[in-house]
Amino acid sequence: MDMEAARRSPPKQVTVRIRRYDPETKKTWWQEYKIEAHRGMTVLDALLKIKEDVDHTIVMRYSCRQGICGSCGVVVNGTPRLACQTQLTEVVSDANPVMTIEPLYNFPVIRDLMTDFTDFFNKHRSVKPYLIRNDKEEQENPKGQYDMYPDEYLQIYQYTNCVYCGLCYAACPVVAADPEFLGPQALMYALRFVNDVRDEGWKERFLIVDTEHGCHRCHFAASCSAVCPKAVDPAGAIQSLRSKLFRFRLGLYKRRVSKIIGPPPEKGEKVPLPPEATLLPGVDLKKLEEEPVVIKLPEDY
Ligand code: SF4
Ligand code: SF4
Ligand code: FES
Repeated sequence: MDMEAARRSPPKQVTVRIRRYDPETKKTWWQEYKIEAHRGMTVLDALLKIKEDVDHTIVMRYSCRQGICGSCGVVVNGTPRLACQTQLTEVVSDANPVMTIEPLYNFPVIRDLMTDFTDFFNKHRSVKPYLIRNDKEEQENPKGQYDMYPDEYLQIYQYTNCVYCGLCYAACPVVAADPEFLGPQALMYALRFVNDVRDEGWKERFLIVDTEHGCHRCHFAASCSAVCPKAVDPAGAIQSLRSKLFRFRLGLYKRRVSKIIGPPPEKGEKVPLPPEATLLPGVDLKKLEEEPVVIKLPEDY
């Protein structure tokens, strides 16, 4: 959310042009609405106002209204965005109080602004987005938890923030040209597990992405990273994946694999931090452990 934009006031009246689609007649058309806007109004608020007060037939997808569920992606003035995280002031001005809203590019349209994510999620699934261990018995019946140090967690943290919104996929010119290209989200997720020290499935994943529709197809223009609302940087992830793949092909890819370090703690049991925990840059975890942070609320809260 752009807090600066949230403090500004949009034009009093905004024209919203929506690209609509009716699957029964297969017709596509632009429809125009005018709404009264106010400070703090998001693109999703504007769409809901139109739906509630003017035209209830508009179809769109949304849920959390706070950038977490990833379901409200649309194209606003040509750029894929989360409708609930986009302030009107970011896309309209007094000089140009008109915004266009379209369904996400590179996805089949079901109706109006609602798109079909089947291919997107099939590609996500194809890179095996789950922990794989060589010992299948241990994987099926784990007897404890795996060790992972803070710096190892930082190797995957950024990628775990993905909310599956598909904005990167909508922005990718290679997906537009080659519908079989795995796309930025699935490739980024392959790296997320390749980097995970608890996982041993990197050979399987390298073979999945090492194809003509895999990571070699990406030309690194980074349109995907430019629109990602969670700063995941899928383009950077694909570069890293490629470099690890080349090392794998040369027989040089190596990393630590974590081990089971005993059962998970009982509820309420205090687990001491390992010495490496202080490695987290700028955070004194030992101090946090000794003096837990107490957030004081105002008395009249
Ligand atoms: S960097 Fe690669 S995945 Fe991202 S938009 Fe460009 S071609 Fe697509
Ligand atoms: S990488 Fe970013 S843009 Fe792509 S699906 Fe995940 S959160 Fe959305
Ligand atoms: S409604 Fe959930 S991310 Fe926008």
